[in-house]
Amino acid sequence: MEVLGIDVGGTGIKSAIVETTTGELLCKRHRVATPHPATPKALAGTLCGVLKYHRWEGPVGMGFPAAIQRGVVRTAANIDKSFIDLPISDYFSEKTGNPCFVANDADVAGLAEMRFGAGKDNSGVVLIVTIGTGLGTALFSDGHLLPNTELGHIMLSNGKEAERYASETVRVTKDLNWEDWGERLNLYLRTMENLFWPDLIVLGGGVSEKLDKFSPMLTTQAPVVAASFLNRAGVVGAALFAEESLCRMK
Ligand code: BGC
Repeated sequence: MEVLGIDVGGTGIKSAIVETTTGELLCKRHRVATPHPATPKALAGTLCGVLKYHRWEGPVGMGFPAAIQRGVVRTAANIDKSFIDLPISDYFSEKTGNPCFVANDADVAGLAEMRFGAGKDNSGVVLIVTIGTGLGTALFSDGHLLPNTELGHIMLSNGKEAERYASETVRVTKDLNWEDWGERLNLYLRTMENLFWPDLIVLGGGVSEKLDKFSPMLTTQAPVVAASFLNRAGVVGAALFAEESLCRMK
């Protein structure tokens, strides 16, 4: 099935038409800036532009940086607070005139990695961590997702909230070198390991392309690998989520 996948981030909105049976992108990935402030209305306007750019009519899958419970936004760590309690899937469906299916960005990236990427055929506990403006997490057991884990907000033993200590934004704004930032990420991953004992840890987000630079700092027992889709996982996974949602409705 062809679905328009959209990955909404704090700074950019990436999109592409995805063939869900293979996870392939059927066009070049398109990127536009996230509007500021990113209110529901402003974002709806940007999304209409994205659909127009792709000349798209049909199902739309969207990864969004918040806990989303059955289509309703529940948290707003790095997005406008006016999203809280918005029935986001219905809202964007109405505004764009196309069926939109919205879920947590890390969860959908995880769907892509589990179906076609680094977690494929993994029958254990897999933790996916997406590293960007925030830290997103997706937790799978035998291929089943426990949605909205929000483990980037956990408090570390140093009293700091994980995503304010080890995200990509922190690395860039504090101008940390790979070694120092790698140590921060290691504290986070070790904390996750002590709580969930994953068999595999998959890192997503642009920084996963640089894994060789900070992997010497990582001391978890579980192997840590880069997401196969690198920073395309969000777009592909968003499309997979829409497809799954449509199948459930049948
Ligand atoms: C949000 C999560 C999101 C993550 C990555 C966090 O601040 O609370 O919902 O998955 O950022 O974007």
